[in-house]
Amino acid sequence: MFAAAPPLEAQPELDHGPSPRDLPAAIAELRQRRRATILAHYYQEPKIQDIADCIGDSLELSRRAAETDADVIVFCGVHFMAETAKILNPSRLVLLPDLEAGCSLAESCPPEAFAKFRDQYPDHLVVSYINTSAAIKAQSDLICTSSNAVDLVRQLPPTQPILFAPDRNLGRWVQQKSGRPMVLWPGSCIVHETFSEAAVLALKQAHPEAAVIAHPECRENLLDLADFIGSTSRLLSHSRSAAAPAFIVLTEPGILHQMRRAMPDKTFLEVPGLDGCNCNACPHMRRNSLAKLWRCLETLEPRIELAEDLRQRALVPIQRMLAMSR
Ligand code: 13P
Ligand code: SF4
Repeated sequence: MFAAAPPLEAQPELDHGPSPRDLPAAIAELRQRRRATILAHYYQEPKIQDIADCIGDSLELSRRAAETDADVIVFCGVHFMAETAKILNPSRLVLLPDLEAGCSLAESCPPEAFAKFRDQYPDHLVVSYINTSAAIKAQSDLICTSSNAVDLVRQLPPTQPILFAPDRNLGRWVQQKSGRPMVLWPGSCIVHETFSEAAVLALKQAHPEAAVIAHPECRENLLDLADFIGSTSRLLSHSRSAAAPAFIVLTEPGILHQMRRAMPDKTFLEVPGLDGCNCNACPHMRRNSLAKLWRCLETLEPRIELAEDLRQRALVPIQRMLAMSR
């Protein structure tokens, strides 16, 4: 494992502006005035999800960012997601309510160390998860998300050796599903690595009617307990179509808001972290707040900026992904 990158400048909460009660209306007014669109990941706090124009997984949000004609994209998610929106849409202003909303997985793959690792496998095609910085995307041949990773790897020529970065858990799962051996970069997500196996077993015992559904970033011992494995949007669609009346959900609990809203008759149970800690909530995603969302629409800061040559190099493997995704 590698040391995490130093944190970016955090945005403090508001010391002026609308009261918490007035924030949704003030955000709606500014969104119109700025000709802005608000994109939110499923891991955002419920109040942000409720005000967003689009809620989705990484793939859906990048597609939406590529298609929008809004002047301003406010990305309520983490840095790599907003950066991907900027790579796809350089002429638009892309805002992230809190610039310190990073990603432990992206930070587990520093560009210089990755370049040395990649040099050891010159014949390998580099497939990188979208949870990476632009500097890693620029060193990659193809980007994937957890929604399309298996399908994209299956589309590659059978004799082509593959290097997969940065998530070892997702990589192991993609290998199993696609039957393609891959060299794996040893990165992981602090949230999905901390779910407690003992807590899942206890929940299964207390709720024998519940199905276990898991994000592929979870550790192998947890994925072995899952009845269904998929990206955030697949977990949502599976819980709609599956017959089970209850679900033990092995991913960040922000997704439970959409699950409960869409299926009020079903039960959704979150899983605590090891030792019962509440580290199942992504500390980066949770840096964004309604107050910071209002302020970034008001000030048009903080912005995502990228050097043009880096943007162009990072764009190539993202465009390949969008062209290959069905
Ligand atoms: P999804 O692509 O499934 O939304 O996952 C993104 C993510 O960061 C999971 O931790
Ligand atoms: Fe990154 Fe993990 Fe947070 Fe997803 S849950 S954004 S992979 S730190």
